[in-house]
Amino acid sequence: MSILAAPTPAAWVDAACESWREVLIDHANCEKKAASSAIALLFAYPEDQALTSALSRLAREELRHFEQVSQMMRRLDVQFVRQRPGRYAAGLRSALCSHEPSRKLDLMCAYALIEARSCERFALLSARLPAPLDSFYASLQAAEARHFELYLRLAEAAQWGGDPQLPSRLRQLALVEAQLATSPDEQLRFHSGPPLDRCAPV
Ligand SMILES: [Fe+2]
Ligand SMILES: [Fe+2]
Repeated sequence: MSILAAPTPAAWVDAACESWREVLIDHANCEKKAASSAIALLFAYPEDQALTSALSRLAREELRHFEQVSQMMRRLDVQFVRQRPGRYAAGLRSALCSHEPSRKLDLMCAYALIEARSCERFALLSARLPAPLDSFYASLQAAEARHFELYLRLAEAAQWGGDPQLPSRLRQLALVEAQLATSPDEQLRFHSGPPLDRCAPV
């Protein structure tokens, strides 16, 4: 079952397969960010032992992914260049509640959505790109599927009071995420929308 509100457009897949080097560099940054976001949650919720032990393991795994992407970049002779950040993470973050306990639930939902989008895009890329990227992305797809399920379990646990808030909050944030991942974008990034120049004028 996907929690995403809309699938990745074919125009993004076409652009990402053509500009796979640019996407690989951003992917290395995404793995670093995934590790540092998990570590930030360890500091934000130190009293939640289920969360801290699961996310400590996840942070180590994301750093291992970063090392694997770095190795792949060397193998394919892709040089690291600094890229301007895309709109995705900041756009999603701006939709989150700023006060607790809503913020914790929102953070878990947002990370579940990011991991679910990564999982979806690794599957799309592994079906289209040649070796060695096909099997590399397929292996990461399985990891991101586990991560998305973990964040979803943490989101369930982050609910409070009598009424379950998760379904409606997840749906609202999924709509924001889908808009960011599917509407025309100025930059091509791992979580971007399709590039403007590939979108039909409206
Ligand atoms: Fe990862
Ligand atoms: Fe992940």
